[in-house]
Amino acid sequence: MQRSEDLGHRNNGGPGNINSGNEPATGMHVAIIMDGNGRWARARGLPRLAGHRVGVEAVRRAVEAAPGLGISVLTLYAFSADNWRRPPREVSALMRLLGHYLTQETARCVANGVRLETIGRRDRLPSSVVRMIEDAERKTGGGTKLRLRLAIDYSARHAIVEAASRGGVEGMAALLGPDVDLLIRTSGEQRLSDFLLWESAYAEMVFTPRMWPEFAAHDLEAAVAEFHRRDRRFGGIATSSRRTA
Ligand code: FPP
Repeated sequence: MQRSEDLGHRNNGGPGNINSGNEPATGMHVAIIMDGNGRWARARGLPRLAGHRVGVEAVRRAVEAAPGLGISVLTLYAFSADNWRRPPREVSALMRLLGHYLTQETARCVANGVRLETIGRRDRLPSSVVRMIEDAERKTGGGTKLRLRLAIDYSARHAIVEAASRGGVEGMAALLGPDVDLLIRTSGEQRLSDFLLWESAYAEMVFTPRMWPEFAAHDLEAAVAEFHRRDRRFGGIATSSRRTA
């Protein structure tokens, strides 16, 4: 697997200070819309929940591969504010899976230097899940290799409105997360679905047909390599054009 130093960082310069987020990131911020669990399961004659279960393994693979690819912040869309519209059985199953992940993975996160946190509303989550989030955040707080952010009951529009009302125009950028460098969506869909709308203002996007349960470390590596081939100009002009301008 290519190491982060081989991949280079020519595309990591941001647009400036508009949204440095809570703290400066030393590597890339990659955000993933993990899509296709249901279709993957249905195509195999399995219940949708089987797709979510296998999707957890893909989460583990991505978290494990991220630091070696130069990723210092990884934000995963685990449950959107609109996912409450799903059948109650699927919602409870997703909550159980998330709770399970939080309790099962905490020790592994601590051992691997992963700091786990969540973004999104907590007031509508089952109190048991909120306790597990708080516990995982406390125990993994010392992690320095990767900041893993799980978006749970998350809506970018809601987060932006909240940040504006708490911080005003001046303070809202600091209340939202760091700018996204690379946004990946699996399953062939090409939309943002209310995910990190502010933070993705200059994100490079990679859409892959791969269904989330099959997303492997080499898929993440390929997306990062694609990112490094892009020329990010942040509204300016390419460095090579400056000399001839
Ligand atoms: C979208 O696929 C996926 C979700 C709504 C849930 C994502 C959850 C996981 C990957 C597992 C739990 C997460 C963590 C972080 C432990 P979909 O079901 O909408 O797929 P479809 O479009 O094919 O129906």
